[in-house]
Amino acid sequence: MTADEIWAQESGSNLINNGRKEQYDGGAYYGSEQPKSSKKKWWWIGGAILLAAIIAGVVAGVVVSQNNKKNNGSGSSGSGGSGSGGGSGGDFTKDDRLHKVFWGMAYDPEGAVPPMCGAKQSEVTKDIQILSQLTTRLRLYSANCNVTALVMQAIKDTGVNMTVYPAIYVNQDDTIFTYQMNNLTDAISKYGADMVDGIAVGNEYMLNQVGSSTSGAAYNTALKYLSDRIERFNTTLQGMGLSKHIPVGTGDAGSVFSVALAEKIDFFMSNVHPWFGELPAAQAAKWTWSYFDEHNVQVAAQATNKPNMYLAETGWPTSANETKFMTLGGAQAGMSDLQSEQWHTCSNTYVCEANANGTEYFYFEGFDQPWKEQYGGVEPYWGLFDKDRNLKQPLTIPTCQ
Ligand SMILES: *[C@@H]1O[C@H](CO)[C@@H](O)[C@H](O)[C@H]1NC(C)=O
Ligand SMILES: *[C@@H]1O[C@H](CO)[C@@H](O)[C@H](O)[C@H]1NC(C)=O
Ligand SMILES: *[C@@H]1O[C@H](CO)[C@@H](O)[C@H](O)[C@H]1NC(C)=O
Ligand SMILES: *[C@@H]1O[C@H](CO)[C@@H](O)[C@H](O)[C@H]1NC(C)=O
Ligand SMILES: *[C@@H]1O[C@H](CO)[C@@H](O)[C@H](O)[C@H]1NC(C)=O
Ligand SMILES: *[C@@H]1O[C@H](CO)[C@@H](O)[C@H](O)[C@H]1NC(C)=O
Repeated sequence: MTADEIWAQESGSNLINNGRKEQYDGGAYYGSEQPKSSKKKWWWIGGAILLAAIIAGVVAGVVVSQNNKKNNGSGSSGSGGSGSGGGSGGDFTKDDRLHKVFWGMAYDPEGAVPPMCGAKQSEVTKDIQILSQLTTRLRLYSANCNVTALVMQAIKDTGVNMTVYPAIYVNQDDTIFTYQMNNLTDAISKYGADMVDGIAVGNEYMLNQVGSSTSGAAYNTALKYLSDRIERFNTTLQGMGLSKHIPVGTGDAGSVFSVALAEKIDFFMSNVHPWFGELPAAQAAKWTWSYFDEHNVQVAAQATNKPNMYLAETGWPTSANETKFMTLGGAQAGMSDLQSEQWHTCSNTYVCEANANGTEYFYFEGFDQPWKEQYGGVEPYWGLFDKDRNLKQPLTIPTCQ
């Protein structure tokens, strides 16, 4: 079955664009990680374009053999970072409930969104101590609020085995773009390129500009704007004469991907959320794979440059608390014993199958983000951990064995 068929069957709906998405605009903002004046809708099914006659693509990727040996960063204990960030973060107690089983994880530290900057080295370091027990790769969302340096300093101080995909958030403000470009290149100069696996210029820029279309005049205008910035950043990056080649791409909703976009980037990071597909958890992992495959991987295969494809956000939210269960169509958020089954069904299945499939994915996400309460619904509650870094109960991290 195709992703659209799964969705249609499960929702009893006659495929796409019947207005259901609009009914939920109260809770559907997420992911751009930056406040916006207008509410965003998650359109990727609503406007899904049927991609006909596509040659099957193959997910290029290394089969991830993630075993969860009682993790342990890169081994280095107390590397005793230098730097102004506040010294060593290397001595920390490992939590044996955690397993290094996720290919990657989305990370947006608290205080990373202007004008509410305020991310602190000590807090970011605590986050990294936890996240490094779950994964070896982090995806960031912007280079505002000194985030790139804070994260790289934390990795250095803790001595954990992690690489990072930093990002520049793109909107209509060129000053902010330039500022982030400077801050990001400063951080790379200071901490070195070894820690960096790729850089995303833009997160959901196309979705914010054009909904989920993949062609047309507005699409082309937005793509030109975005690709100009990708090119500008790449020129700067190349000019740094780094010893390591760092690919440059963008992150966006899976629904906005096109061959034209593919040809402007070295990689695409696709956000695909079964929750917003309104699917029961039992269908979620399969649907996510199908959606990514049909709308992204197979499209990338048509581009001459064959960009690398990441699934950049997928996960399953919990509810605010045990008395307020949240649902969206057939999707139920997990929190109580009963509801957490939904979480486990989606997340465990996805993580273990994707590891076996060789999908390069970033789980969304490590920690709850209270600042997203303004967007309502499940927005603040996607974390494995609550905002105070408590592993949510009764969630258990899969071992995939
Ligand atoms: C660090 O993590 C990578 C995967 O991201 C893995 O291939 C490598 O073996 C790890 N290194 C150590 C020293 O554990
Ligand atoms: C950014 O963070 C780094 C690492 O902690 C620190 O060395 C630097 O002083 C910070 N810069 C600013 C402007 O806060
Ligand atoms: C970020 O860039 C701005 C201007 O481009 C600069 O004033 C500021 O010091 C930079 N901050 C860091 C942390 O590098
Ligand atoms: C950036 O420049 C390098 C070197 O020319 C090139 O290999 C890479 O494809 C470029 N990336 C983008 C997104 O243009
Ligand atoms: C893994 O791949 C198979 C097809 O080979 C697919 O049916 C399954 O849904 C995939 N699962 C994930 C989570 O990628
Ligand atoms: C549970 O969460 C809902 C939604 O955020 C809120 O209205 C309600 O007051 C909360 N209840 C408790 C007991 O915290």
